[in-house]
This record gives sequence, C-alpha cells and structure tokens, in this order.
Amino acid sequence: MIYEINGGRPLRGECRVQGSKNSALPILACTLLCGGETVIRNCPVLSDVEATLRILRHLGCRVKREGHIVTVDSTAVTSDEIPDVLMREMRSSVIFLGAILARNGSATLSTPGGCEIGLRPIDLHLDAMRRLGAQVREEFGRIVCEAPNGLTGANISLSFPSVGATENIMIAAACAKGVTRIANAAREPEISDLADFLNSCGARIAGAGEGSVTVEGVPRLHPTEHTVIPDRIVAATYMAAAAVTGGAIRLRSIIPAHLGPEIAVLEEAGCRIESDCRNLRLTAPKRLSGVKMIRTMPYPGFPTDIQAPFAAMLTAAEGTSVIIETIFENRYKYIGELVRFGARIRVDGRMAVIDGVEKLYGANVVMPDLRGGAALMIAGLAAEGTTRISGVRHIDRGYETPEQVLSGLSADVKRIEEDGKTDPEQQSEPHRRQGEPLAR
Ligand code: EPZ
Repeated sequence: MIYEINGGRPLRGECRVQGSKNSALPILACTLLCGGETVIRNCPVLSDVEATLRILRHLGCRVKREGHIVTVDSTAVTSDEIPDVLMREMRSSVIFLGAILARNGSATLSTPGGCEIGLRPIDLHLDAMRRLGAQVREEFGRIVCEAPNGLTGANISLSFPSVGATENIMIAAACAKGVTRIANAAREPEISDLADFLNSCGARIAGAGEGSVTVEGVPRLHPTEHTVIPDRIVAATYMAAAAVTGGAIRLRSIIPAHLGPEIAVLEEAGCRIESDCRNLRLTAPKRLSGVKMIRTMPYPGFPTDIQAPFAAMLTAAEGTSVIIETIFENRYKYIGELVRFGARIRVDGRMAVIDGVEKLYGANVVMPDLRGGAALMIAGLAAEGTTRISGVRHIDRGYETPEQVLSGLSADVKRIEEDGKTDPEQQSEPHRRQGEPLAR
C-alpha cells in the first residue's frame, strides 16, 4: 500500500482526534495488575496497540475489542515472558516490564533493540527495578528480573525524566510494600493519565505531572473503566497540515492545555488559534513565517514527536527556521526525503536549518519512521502536484486512518495498492478494519 496525495489544497472542516497511543500502551500493560475485566475506552486502532493486545493475550489475558473499546480480563495470567518475536514488533513493549514483574514476581523480556530514531537504552528502567528490590540480569539477549519476595518501595531519582522509566516505576511500585518517591519524573500528560488509571484501580499515586511522584503501595488493584486522553501529537500533526496549506480547521475532543509549545510556534508562524477546554480552531495565513528556534525538550517543553511534522510545515514558510533535537540522536532521517519536494534544509548534528521556499513540488518518497512519515504526508499536502509515499506501515503505528481524517478536511489523499487500485475496505490490512472510522 502507498499514500497518493494531490497537494496544494487548503485543509478545511473539522475532525475529532483519536485517543493517545502513548497513553493507551502503558495503561493496557497495567491491566495485568487489575485481575477481572477492565474496560479501556477511546483506545485508538493502531498497529502498536494491536501488538500490545497480542502480548496481553500471550500472557494469558482474554482481550476483546469493539471499535474503540478494549476489554482486558487478566484473571488468569499464565506467563511472565514476552518472546523475542513479540518484543521485536514494538520496541516500547519494555513498558510491560513493571507490570509483569509486579504481577508474577518475575519477568523475562528479550532486550528491546533500538529503533529508527535511536538506540533507546533502558538502563534507567532496569536500575529502578533494582532499587525496588528486583534482581536483574541481562544474558543472551534477554533481560531476566526476579523479585520472589515482592517489591519494596524506594526513593528513585532519575538522571533524565524518562517517560517509559517513570511509567514502569509507577506501575511496579503501585503494589510494592511501602512508599516510592520518584524524583525528576517525566511530566508528560500520558504520565498523569496513567496515574489517573492506576488510582481508579485503587492505587495511591500523588504528584503525577509534576517533577516528583509519590506512590504508596497498596495490597492489590481492582478492575476499572477508563477513557484514554486525546492524542496531543496527532492533534498537532493535523494542525501543522492545516497551517502549511493555508487552511482553517476545527479539532474536537482534544485538550489544548497539552499543546502549549506547539500553539506558541504556530502563532509565531502567523496562525490564529482560538480554543476552549476541549476544542481548538486554527486559521492559517496564506503563507507561514519562519520560526526563530524550536528546541525539543521533555514536557512541558516542545515535544520531540512533533519535531518532524513541524519541520515539514516550515519548509514552505517565508524565512529561515532553526530546529534543535535534544532528545533522540537519529530523528532527522526524514529530511533526505523532504529535500525531494524541493525543501532546502541543512543538518549539522542535532541542528536543522530550514530555508523556506516559495513552493514544494510533488515527489515519490519513502517513510523512514512514524513521525517522519507524518512529515512527508504534510509536505505532500502542501506540494503542487502528486506525491506518492511508501512505507505506510510506519504511519499505521500511530495515526488512525489519516486518509479518512484528511479527506474529511478536504484533502485529496488516497491509500492505494502499489499498482494504483484503491482498496475501499482495506481488506489487506485487518488491524485497520476493527475500529469504525473516526467520526468527522
Ligand atoms: C516515549 O518514549 C514515547 N513513546 C516516545 O514517542 C517519545 O518520543 C518519548 O517518550 C519522549 O517524549 C511512548 O510513550 C510509547 P524516554 P520513551 O524514555 O519512554 C533516553 C512516538 O513517536 N533514555 O523519555 O522511550 C532515551 O535514549 C514515540 O510516539 C535513556 O538513556 O522515551 C532518549 O534519549 C517515539 N535510558 C531519552 O531518554 C533509559 O533507560 C527519552 O527517552 C530510557 C531513556
């Protein structure tokens, strides 16, 4: 399958934004601790989520999905191991570590390799599990954690506010004996959503979303129902698409408070943004202005995940923009593909300098990774002429039917077989069939 985009059309209309991938994944892992049937609503239909559901089934859970509602029954967990084949499907499966260890008293995962955007070490995760009383050994490409006497609360100070490490600690500490305090914890909204989920299961977590989190261990957790927060990265991606095409769109069921830095950049580029607590309206100028500097930082700074989509947006701006990527070491792979549209970008280590051009021209390009793929779609929407993008498996990890959402915003985007046939039912892609398309 490929995406075929006929660009140069302003995005107009409104759309609803999907549930957050990076909130759903840790919450689904956490259902291992609930026993009984837990219901997760607003769960996006994505290949990363389906990979997570396969891991839950492998561990012995009964899992069913009806549209955007996933039910997990973890009464009978029968394994403490995630095999290599499942770990390789999704590097962020390391988020299961804390949940499996807390549920079983042991956990075996194959070492999660790096991915397209960097080496993705997990030293902070493993050091934290040791601090909570687990023995951790790494051998033959596997990580074996054992805590036969259960886990014990501890004071843990993170050298970097790692999202995944903060999540693994919160999950592992929820039923540990005593209190765990996490200093320099990640503050992303997905951390707060996970804490809300855990507290609704009977955990006692305070301070999530601030620099230090306290987890008072409780004997057990119980099932619950939870609605996943909207995906702020997907929201910002569609805002960038509207901005670069001189469009005007309204996003429904989002949380504008999660988009502070992105809104600041879009306003500096010349967009007008009005919002209330759950909706946002963006009106773009005919042509954007360049942005002095975007520096990616841990939340509440500018998110690394929206660096590529915003870089694509700025390639057609008037003037020069500078981006500095401080989080991941290999997050500029998409730039070589952007240049095919006529973009003028220079990369020097962590810095990218974008000299805006009057016009982009349609090109044939290949997605290098998830957010780089979103960047190429944005460039295709802005470019004059036809763009064909392959490697769509990357986009399926994080964006739910973008061709439907964008078509609903007046874009000309089709997802077609390589030989040009449109497959209306996406029959060849089962994971995309299970969720009803997002209501416009
Ligand atoms: C989460 O990844 C997100 N993934 C990423 O989104 C996001 O880019 C990242 O947080 C930063 O916001 C999920 O939530 C599933 P980190 P995570 O641990 O937890 C270093 C997307 O596109 N580090 O905060 O892996 C690491 O190398 C994805 O949706 C260590 O050195 O991010 C990186 O430089 C991409 N040792 C930095 O910290 C560790 O033990 C940030 O990593 C852990 C991390």
